[in-house]
Amino acid sequence: MIAAPSNMPRDGSPILEVDSLTRQFGGLVAVNDVSFSVRKGEILGIIGPNGAGKTTLFSLISGFMKPTKGEVRFCGERITGLTPNRIAEKGLARSFQITQAFGNMTIRDTVTAASLLRRPLIEAQQHADSILDETGLWKKRNEFSTSLSPQDQKLLEVAKCLATDPLLILLDEVMAGLTLAEAEVPLAIVRLLHARGISFVLIEHVMPIVMKTAERIIVLNFGQKVGEGTPEEIVRLKDVKDAYFGEEVDA
Ligand SMILES: Nc1ncnc2c1ncn2[C@@H]1O[C@H](COP(=O)(O)OP(=O)(O)OP(=O)(O)O)[C@@H](O)[C@H]1O
Ligand SMILES: [Mg+2]
Repeated sequence: MIAAPSNMPRDGSPILEVDSLTRQFGGLVAVNDVSFSVRKGEILGIIGPNGAGKTTLFSLISGFMKPTKGEVRFCGERITGLTPNRIAEKGLARSFQITQAFGNMTIRDTVTAASLLRRPLIEAQQHADSILDETGLWKKRNEFSTSLSPQDQKLLEVAKCLATDPLLILLDEVMAGLTLAEAEVPLAIVRLLHARGISFVLIEHVMPIVMKTAERIIVLNFGQKVGEGTPEEIVRLKDVKDAYFGEEVDA
């Protein structure tokens, strides 16, 4: 685990603050004036229909895209405009919805490469090995990432995040496409890491998972934040009910 930065927030204080974040693609406003914060030690869920702007929001926060407007602060420090590498060094990790697998690298090498962010090679390999063990990927360490099942590719995304010793992890649909039973594997890992003090933002479409995992949820639609609250509050929002539950939820 990395040494906590001197400006590390206390539990319950904001670790991530997003202010009026906006990203336009030509005439399309993919993320429109979105503001929210994540408290240290919190699991925040983000839901919203396809094309709502969820992945774009993660790309803006993690430095992979520049915002048209707005600001992001991490541990109280402005990180808007920093490179993804600098942001990762500060302790903010992000998984990719479309797995960023390097076909010509083994699982072990892929996680070791992420671990090199903070360690020399031999230590990075040892660190990667402990993460592969923890995430259940050890037996597959010598396979190529492209040969993994979709479920294991998602676990590899989590393992790559972990290898950078994050304080906050942004997970983009790591449980998508899994059955509820299969999702228990990544969920158990999230719970374990959360118990160790790592904060999370989870983008998820699988509502039963986000409902039972997130302490608070924000809802995006057409780039805008249209709801924010506890899972119990969110399930009562009419738009969310219509979009996700139809008539079946007894709210
Ligand atoms: N690089 C880009 N150039 C142009 N338009 C983009 C780009 N990236 C995303 N968009 C558009 O921005 C909108 C938001 O896309 P985004 O991928 O953030 O949605 P999402 O909520 O993650 O959707 P999904 O649930 O399908 O993953 C969509 O209309 C998408 O087509
Ligand atoms: Mg997406």
